[in-house]
Amino acid sequence: MGELTGKTALVTGASRGIGRAVALRLAAEGAYVAVHYGSDEQAAARTVERIEKDGGRAFAVQARFGEEGAVDQLFWQLGAGLDGRGLDILVNNAGISSGHPIAHVTPEELRQLFEVNVSAPFFVTQRALPLLNDGGRIINMGSTASRFAVSIQIGYTLTKAALEALAPTLANELGRRGITVNTVAPGAIRTDLTAGYTAVPEVVAELEAITALGRLGEPEDVADVVGFLAGPQGRYVTGQTIDVSGGTYLGPIMPA
Ligand SMILES: NC(=O)c1ccc[n+]([C@@H]2O[C@H](COP(=O)([O-])OP(=O)(O)OC[C@H]3O[C@@H](n4cnc5c(N)ncnc54)[C@H](OP(=O)(O)O)[C@@H]3O)[C@@H](O)[C@H]2O)c1
Repeated sequence: MGELTGKTALVTGASRGIGRAVALRLAAEGAYVAVHYGSDEQAAARTVERIEKDGGRAFAVQARFGEEGAVDQLFWQLGAGLDGRGLDILVNNAGISSGHPIAHVTPEELRQLFEVNVSAPFFVTQRALPLLNDGGRIINMGSTASRFAVSIQIGYTLTKAALEALAPTLANELGRRGITVNTVAPGAIRTDLTAGYTAVPEVVAELEAITALGRLGEPEDVADVVGFLAGPQGRYVTGQTIDVSGGTYLGPIMPA
């Protein structure tokens, strides 16, 4: 029996990348997982299939954040899938990036970034609260972008800093019910989101050179930390941001 047996979870953006790894991790520990996706139905079906093949339980829910009524749509499907059960674990993972310096960020781009990366997790959390069982977990997917400056990620950085600000306030509000709220802040992780630069050996070498552990991350590196926070061992950690970057940009790395 896994440590999450009997628990339910919603992982947004679980069709691909980090969210998929998180869904697999929680399901492997016994959680019944709602695998949310935006538009890639086949990828979400593959996540569910893989969970079931490994002996777990999951169902897919679809909602395109940034579109009218998306959060309502998500919670209708979630309610049907949970069939009267509450929610124990909410992982707000779905997100989008952008790659423009300030001079080239359009109002539409910034609006979309805030819709998907900030408003969606905010209102998903708001809607989840009545369903959330005492002792529950909320985990938001931040980014090291809020810790160090990357000029072409300025719009994305603002959204991740805003999302990170949710955890301490909510942690105070929900703590007396034993509910923890934390942010996990990955560094560069190999997913579709980063494929544009993780496929370029020179960029990878530069990133590795400023990373204490000397390698880029894999989705499972992040999923294991989410798994820890979601499980019983994470019960006394709340309101925090946990950096999962292999120690990226800690300071100069001196030759040994
Ligand atoms: N990869 C990294 O290096 C890295 C670093 C720091 C933080 N992060 C954060 O980690 C999270 C996951 O990133 P990732 O690298 O795994 O990304 P990814 O591989 O691009 O996957 C993104 C996921 O989010 C969903 N999604 C995207 N836009 C959506 C929308 N408008 N509505 C609903 N769902 C949407 C996608 O669903 P569909 O495919 O079905 O549309 C997909 O499941 C993001 O919040 C990202 O900012 C990633």
